Amino acid sequence: MLIDGYGRKHDYLRVSVTERCNFRCQYCMPEKPFSWVPKENLLSYEDLFKFIKASIDEGIKKVRITGGEPLLREGLDTFLKMIFDYKNDIDLALTTNAFLLPNAAQKLKDAGLKRINISLDSMRADVAAKIAQKNVLPTVLKGIQAADDAGLKIKINCVPIKGINDQDIVEVLDFCKERGYIIRFIEFMENHHAKEGAKGLNSDEMKEIISRKYKIVKTIPRDTSSPAQYYELEDGYQFGIIEPHKDDFCSACNRIRLTAEGYLIPCLYFEDAMSIKDAVRNDNIDEAVAILKKVLAGKPEKNKWSVKDDNEVSSRAFYETGG
Ligand code: GTP
Ligand code: 5AD
Ligand code: SF4
Repeated sequence: MLIDGYGRKHDYLRVSVTERCNFRCQYCMPEKPFSWVPKENLLSYEDLFKFIKASIDEGIKKVRITGGEPLLREGLDTFLKMIFDYKNDIDLALTTNAFLLPNAAQKLKDAGLKRINISLDSMRADVAAKIAQKNVLPTVLKGIQAADDAGLKIKINCVPIKGINDQDIVEVLDFCKERGYIIRFIEFMENHHAKEGAKGLNSDEMKEIISRKYKIVKTIPRDTSSPAQYYELEDGYQFGIIEPHKDDFCSACNRIRLTAEGYLIPCLYFEDAMSIKDAVRNDNIDEAVAILKKVLAGKPEKNKWSVKDDNEVSSRAFYETGG
């Protein structure tokens, strides 16, 4: 079992397969980076898989593939199948912007993918285009439909930004409610790569907007395996808000992140990271596991997004860490 220095059990590994993306979301990658990580610095699927296998043996029960945009990396279905074939009861999930999903959803499902989380920031094409800086909505909606048709369990992520899509959140909620998808609104996490001046809505502001249309009747006790706090509407539909600015957000953290370059990241907020690249490339899996345990032992207790005027936030971009 993997336990950190604060007694938190870790059973969730997020693996980024690329930092590249075909969107330029204002809260993540508003501009194309000066340079991409050269291909030879990325871990191969074989090397990533060696580490995933070892982590599963150590107690990881959920593996989520992230990016950048993971579908930009060729052969993702084969990679998923390697994981599925190793342990078919693993909770195997993917986070994507859905742009390439129309032609990929069925293949991913056939490879063993169980769940998919998709970004959807607005139901209005012009607003979605303003956020992603590209006309994305029609294709994203097709991608969502393809995932649904393939039988994948769908969760939608929406990051409300003041003055851009803050008035769109009820429409996004309604879209999910009608289709039986789970919606989570995410508080924007301030970082050095986001568009200057971008301001997110906090959880109370989101609830206030939603309660203009729906009565929120219940706060569901938080499930320790999920970053989201769920709230229930009168008709029984539950929506989630990911509230990293709340002081107790991290008490339930069960996750560790691996970047495409082989860095293990204990927390999105802090700079700390250790590389397992050499260890896996040299087939020294014991060393990779030892690094994993060291990273966990040094994992901070909580992020500092709740602290105002804080300048310590990591210089790493969300598209490198995989969100
Ligand atoms: P589920 O397994 O479906 O619960 O997925 P998930 O919420 O873990 O994955 P997803 O990739 O959809 O994550 C949604 C977003 O929530 C992330 O990209 C982050 O922006 C945020 N988030 C998730 N976990 C953490 C965390 O540990 N810390 C912080 N600060 N934000 C997180
Ligand atoms: N703050 C909050 N959420 C973010 N995401 C990307 N960047 C940020 C940020 N700065 C979200 C995206 C996507 C998920 C992987 O991370 O909306 O759904
Ligand atoms: Fe790309 Fe996702 Fe970042 Fe948007 S949030 S730029 S889709 S990696």
